Amino acid sequence: MSTTFRLDRLLANMGYGSRREVQQLVRMGAVVLDGTPLADPDMRLAATPDLAQRMRIDGVRLDPPPGMAIMLHKPLGVTCSHKEAGALVYELLPTRWRMREPAISTVGRLDKETTGLLLLTDDGDLLHRIISPKRHVAKRYVATLARPLRGDEAAQFATGELMLEGEDKPLAPAVMEPLSDTVARLTVTEGRYHQVRRMFAAVGNHVEALHRDRVGALDLPADLAPGKHRLMGEGDIAAVFG
Ligand code: URA
Repeated sequence: MSTTFRLDRLLANMGYGSRREVQQLVRMGAVVLDGTPLADPDMRLAATPDLAQRMRIDGVRLDPPPGMAIMLHKPLGVTCSHKEAGALVYELLPTRWRMREPAISTVGRLDKETTGLLLLTDDGDLLHRIISPKRHVAKRYVATLARPLRGDEAAQFATGELMLEGEDKPLAPAVMEPLSDTVARLTVTEGRYHQVRRMFAAVGNHVEALHRDRVGALDLPADLAPGKHRLMGEGDIAAVFG
């Protein structure tokens, strides 16, 4: 069963203007559902995903209704924050999406200097399911290191006993595979602050570049260029938990 919304509130919450501006759009016949202009801004309708195919605003397809999930290829140098100085990940999305209520938020964060697969959603339940420690959703990174691997890192990360500086709870076991002397793939199931950088610091190394290429079983699509985003379908969401 999907929730129903008043048309003017739904469109206002999707960033199409104030309630009053949206009511005006409806009166002008600019809001069309299944080919028919809607006349009543008070009408209730279900915000099902197919609404984006069925509704046009000023002749343009409706944005995805609430309950959207997005994958973004985060480029270097942008911050996962709504309000910090400098370039923000939200500025990589269409302008109107920044005015949505509920707001679109990142699912966890990647550091400003980390690139790769970043998920965003306006669905609080989905967000919490992905970041919940109970779900153990794996996050896979490729780290480029300042110094050659010593050879004991994978064993240390696998113990479930490694302690990060300033913390009192050991890290859950993590899987590391060397890709070369100075490049390693690391899969973690937690989301501690600067976790991967701090893990390599704990074994005497330094991460020079960090890229996330997978969340759960969802890979960063090879054809999704840095800075670009794509809506997630049900299969993509299932893959995160797969
Ligand atoms: N670990 C880090 O150190 N940084 C990230 O952005 C993600 C994981």
